[in-house]
Amino acid sequence: MFHSNIRTPEGYWFILNIEMLFKYSRIKCDYALGEYATLTQVKSFKLREFKPKDLQSVVSINWKCLPENYSSQFFLELYEHYPKSFIVVEADGQIVGYIMCRIETGISEFKRPIFGIAKKGHIVSIAVLSEYRRCGIATELINQAMRRMLEYGATECYLEVRKTNDAAVNLYKKLGFEILRKISGYYYDGEDAYVMGWKLKKFEH
Ligand code: COA
Repeated sequence: MFHSNIRTPEGYWFILNIEMLFKYSRIKCDYALGEYATLTQVKSFKLREFKPKDLQSVVSINWKCLPENYSSQFFLELYEHYPKSFIVVEADGQIVGYIMCRIETGISEFKRPIFGIAKKGHIVSIAVLSEYRRCGIATELINQAMRRMLEYGATECYLEVRKTNDAAVNLYKKLGFEILRKISGYYYDGEDAYVMGWKLKKFEH
């Protein structure tokens, strides 16, 4: 049985089991259109695994939200290889966010500078439409994806993030990721990336 941390409208964090996780609503919501919304707006959203029929929606969100864009084939390849950790969010009858991951075998991000091989979960892409942000959606996407990557045998998880992407860096830090190193000029426009990581073994209980 999986468990997840869910923030209630009252501001508490508590444990829900997976059956409840996939459908619930929350009240506190920041409509990232510039102003903080009142605390009366109710949003409900549902997490589920990606299906090929979601492809256009996911590609569209990727283009709207990120400068790193991929071909449709790339999305489908990750779905074919790692379907459990490709998760979408539905709200108001549409797809409003996604997370896409893959599993890699390589040098552990946590045993450096000592050499060690690990099965690593890689968060390749995550995005939430701007009008659905600050509702905890990305938090839930990552929590779910991490559990799924653990099922694939990963023992640690990592991602790259633009150094100036404060929203994402804050999100990952809040979830317990740490900055492991910096890669200079990682992005096509020359911006540096942080490699951030988390030991997935934390979920083993
Ligand atoms: N400014 C500062 N901190 C932010 C933030 C922002 N704009 N957005 C999220 N955070 C941090 C906060 O600590 C927040 O907790 P709080 O709301 O209690 O303060 C925490 O992250 C959780 O936020 P959550 O609601 O789960 O995230 P989200 O659903 O709004 O999605 C992103 C966050 C980064 C996925 C979203 O902003 C997005 O899609 N951005 C564009 C795509 C992108 O940058 N993807 C990441 C690439 S590495």
